[in-house]
Amino acid sequence: MTQTIDPNGKTVVVTGAASGIGREIARQMADLGAMVVIADINQAGLDALASELEGKGTKVLSRMVDMADLAAVDAFGKEAMDWAQGTMALVYANAGIHGITSGIDPDMELFEKVIAVNLMGPIYMSKAFVPRLVAQGIPAQFVITGSQASFLAAPGISPYVAAKHGLWGFADSLRIELAMEQSPVSVSLVAPSRADTGITRQRLDEYREQGGDKAVEDYIASMVGPEKIAEVAVRESMKRAFWIIPSHEPTLEMFKARADAIIEAMPAGEIKV
Ligand SMILES: NC(=O)c1ccc[n+]([C@@H]2O[C@H](COP(=O)([O-])OP(=O)(O)OC[C@H]3O[C@@H](n4cnc5c(N)ncnc54)[C@H](O)[C@@H]3O)[C@@H](O)[C@H]2O)c1
Repeated sequence: MTQTIDPNGKTVVVTGAASGIGREIARQMADLGAMVVIADINQAGLDALASELEGKGTKVLSRMVDMADLAAVDAFGKEAMDWAQGTMALVYANAGIHGITSGIDPDMELFEKVIAVNLMGPIYMSKAFVPRLVAQGIPAQFVITGSQASFLAAPGISPYVAAKHGLWGFADSLRIELAMEQSPVSVSLVAPSRADTGITRQRLDEYREQGGDKAVEDYIASMVGPEKIAEVAVRESMKRAFWIIPSHEPTLEMFKARADAIIEAMPAGEIKV
């Protein structure tokens, strides 16, 4: 597998590009000389980004696509690959929504929506792009935006955690299968936390309820700009890393404790009786 991907003169797809991390990835890819395909459900945000990038001389294809709609995502995949004419190098399945509901008695409509957008969305993107990337035959990276919630649980956002954990499983399985075929296509999983974007701003009211204005101030102070997350996502996906973890809350210990608990529960080659 080629070690790095240079997006200059190549095509890059970014979903969830109308805002936050996706918009920053698209901007940075345009600055690196890529042609950019952007998708979202927010037409105004797409239009603003498309004219900004075109104003700088970037070739842009902009499409309204609901990531929870397999037929629409597949049609988008076909159109984007045709448009790229053999130059598709990086595909960022980045669109996502938050899912704030109790795990004890969840709002099922919200739960199913979060699974549809955050878990099935990247899987639909994979179905729409990965076989076409394999057939294209040049080095390409399929990049999924997971979350710190891909490897850590948290209260109050169980659908989000379930979807993002699912992405780890899917992305890693896909990575293994592609490596077994010695494919020029590989996979990355970006796992950000606390970027100052549309999604995190939605939680501020909840923090205010729990801890007042001070809790909100502390949370805002702990956030990083989406451009910083995008910088790491762009750099590391060009290097074709699987795990891309741009920042983390002080949760290394939580992850170690989780891994230790699993290791401890593992019988050494036998069934525990
Ligand atoms: N902000 C963070 O701290 C953080 C942390 C971990 C993971 N993430 C992940 O980063 C990704 C980007 O989110 P963000 O933080 O930039 O938030 P954001 O809200 O600023 O951007 C998300 C974009 O996705 C779009 N979108 C939502 N539903 C869609 C759908 N059905 N089809 C197509 N587009 C849709 C939205 O319109 C929006 O433009 C998400 O997958 C999110 O889960 C963010």
